[in-house]
Amino acid sequence: MNEQPDKQGFMAWIDARFPLTKMWDEHLAKYYAPKNFNFWYFFGSLALLVLVLQIVTGIFLTMHYKPDGELAFKSVEYIMRDVDWGWLIRYLHSTGSSAFFIVVYLHMFRGLMYGSYQKPRELIWIFGMFIFLALMAEAFMGYLLPWGQMSFWGAQVIISLFGAIPWVGDDLTIWIRGDFVISDATLNRFFALHVIAVPLVLLLLVVMHILALHEVGSNNPDGIEIKKNKDENGVPLDGIPFHPYYSVKDLVGVVVFLILFSMVVFFAPEMGGYFLEKPNFVPADPFKTPEHIAPVWYFTPYYAILRAVPDKLLGVIAMFAAIGVLFLMPWIDRGKVRSIRYRSATFKWLLAMLVVSFIGLGYLGALPPTPTRTMFAQIFSIGYFGYFVGLWWISKNEVTKPVPARVR
Ligand code: HEM
Repeated sequence: MNEQPDKQGFMAWIDARFPLTKMWDEHLAKYYAPKNFNFWYFFGSLALLVLVLQIVTGIFLTMHYKPDGELAFKSVEYIMRDVDWGWLIRYLHSTGSSAFFIVVYLHMFRGLMYGSYQKPRELIWIFGMFIFLALMAEAFMGYLLPWGQMSFWGAQVIISLFGAIPWVGDDLTIWIRGDFVISDATLNRFFALHVIAVPLVLLLLVVMHILALHEVGSNNPDGIEIKKNKDENGVPLDGIPFHPYYSVKDLVGVVVFLILFSMVVFFAPEMGGYFLEKPNFVPADPFKTPEHIAPVWYFTPYYAILRAVPDKLLGVIAMFAAIGVLFLMPWIDRGKVRSIRYRSATFKWLLAMLVVSFIGLGYLGALPPTPTRTMFAQIFSIGYFGYFVGLWWISKNEVTKPVPARVR
C-alpha cells in the first residue's frame, strides 16, 4: 500500500511498487541527526565519497591494465603516457588510496574522542573495524598490481610474515602466493581480489555500517543520547533532519576536501615518495632486492610495531594485536560518559599518548631501522598498547564532569 496518499503520478506509481519515498525519508529527510555535529562528522561522508571515487577510477584503470607479469608494469606506463587522461585517472586512484586512509583514520579518531563505540553503537564500530581490515587488504593487493620493485618486494616481505606461524607457516605462504615465489599466479589472484572480491565485501560492510548507525542514531560531540528527549511526534528535540541540513553542510566538507585533494593530484601526486614510492618506478626484479623496503605510509605504524619486537613470530602477533585490540574498544572502555568533553584529564592524556605513539611509529616505520630508532619504536609501541590498558584501567572509576541533559 502507498503510505503517501498525497503523492500522485509517477512517484505514487513507484512508491506502490518500491519503497523509494520510504527509504528517502528513513535515511535522509526524516533521519534526525543531533544538531551539534562539528567538522569531525564530515569524515564519514567523505569516506563514502572516496569509496565511490576509487570504484569509478578503478573501473577505468581496469579497462587498460593487464594483470600479467610481463605486461603489468608496461600497461601502467601506457596508461600514464598514451591513454587519454590516463595519468589523471591513475593519480586520482593512487592519491585516493592515501586519502581514504587519512579520512578513515580521522573518522576512527573521532569515534575514540566521542566514545561513539560505546553502547548501543558497538556494532557500528565492529562493522567499521571490518571495513578497516578490508580496506587494508584492498590497498595491499592493489599495490602489487603496478608490478614495480616496491610492489614486488613489499608483498614479498608481508607474505613471508605468515611463514613465522608454527607448523602451517610455509604451506600458508605458498597457498597465498599460489607459487613458491611471488609470480604471475600471485598477480592474477591479487587482481581478481582487488577489483571485485574485496570491493564487494567493502560495499556490503559499508551498507551494514550505515544501517546499524541509522538503527540506533548518531552520537555527537557531547555524547548525549538525543533520543531521550523527544517531542509529542516522537522527533528528538535536539535533532534536525539529515536532509537538507547535513546534506548541505557535508557539501562544504566535500568542497574543502576536493580542493586539498586536487592540490595533491595535480601538484604532488607522489607526495615526496610517500604516496607513490620511488622504487616503484622501476619494474619488479626478483633478483634485485631494493636497498630499503618500506610499505606505504598508512601501514608504517603497524610495520614499526612488527620491527620493534626482536622475535619474528612475536612481532607478527604484536602487529596483528595492534589492529585486533581496536575491535574490543566497546568493552575496553568501561566508562559511562562518552565524550572527551566530560571525561577526566587522564583520559585526554591517554588519547594524546595514542596519537603521539601512532604518528611516531608511522614515521619510524618508513625509515631503515637503527638501534636508536628501534628503541624509540619500542617506546611508542608501549605507548600505543598503553592507551588500551590505561583506558581499561581508568575507565571503571573515572571521575568525570556532569553531562548536560540536552545538547548545547
Ligand atoms: C569505507 C569506510 C567507511 C565509511 C564509508 C563510513 C561511513 C560512515 C558514515 C557515513 C557515518 C555517519 C557520518 C559520521 O558520523 O561521520 C559513519 C559513522 C560512524 N563510523 Fe564509519 N565509515 C567507514 C569506516 C569506519 C571505520 C573504519 C570505523 C571504526 C572502526 C567507523 C566507525 C564509525 C562510528 C563509530 C560511527 C558513528 C559515529 C557517531 O555517531 O558519532 N567507520 N561512518
